Amino acid sequence: MLPEIANRKSVFPQFFTGTDIDRATLGQLIEAANAAPSHRKTEPWRFRVYRGAGRDQLREELLDVYGRDRDDAAAIAKKFGTKIEQSAAVLLIFLHRDPRESVPEWEEIAAVGAAVENLWLSLATHGLGGYWSSPGFVCGDYGAWPGSAENERCLGMFYLGHPDMPELMRPRGDWQEKVTWVE
Ligand SMILES: Cc1cc2nc3c(=O)[nH]c(=O)nc-3n(C[C@H](O)[C@H](O)[C@H](O)COP(=O)(O)O)c2cc1C
Repeated sequence: MLPEIANRKSVFPQFFTGTDIDRATLGQLIEAANAAPSHRKTEPWRFRVYRGAGRDQLREELLDVYGRDRDDAAAIAKKFGTKIEQSAAVLLIFLHRDPRESVPEWEEIAAVGAAVENLWLSLATHGLGGYWSSPGFVCGDYGAWPGSAENERCLGMFYLGHPDMPELMRPRGDWQEKVTWVE
């Protein structure tokens, strides 16, 4: 197995050191995402990058999406505010549906997944860690996001930072149970 694949893992914000990530590095990560495959070359991945003071805006947008009037809005604001604060940057992941709908939507979602995996596999090279988070209120109903286009849906966020994390078990089921051989 490629070492990048063997070593890829979810690193959660409580294990980030608080060190910043510069824009050029984030650009390289997104460049790697942009190298993903897509049917008919629709390139349906889009990212919104929140870093530095921009993270305050993400907090506000999350609360708008969740609903400021809900009983537990303050608890949600605290929970997500903490993760955002701990992260050097947070990417919002979008599916940008091809306006001509030239391929089925599932193919576009799969392509976004491939793009995020490219980014994830690139983190170690830059000494970074992160994970894909898909809270129900953001993605459950296939999220519309404040300021996003009609044909864009939020598929969650990717928290990023410099990791300082204990080694966790990352067990996987037996791959041989997931394959049917026809020969
Ligand atoms: C599409 C997608 C959505 C995910 N959403 C969440 C999430 O909402 N919360 C969470 O804790 N982890 C989430 N994860 C991360 C998984 O929990 C994690 O990848 C899994 O536990 C395997 O761990 P590993 O990434 O370290 O191998 C998501 C992963 C994917 C691919």
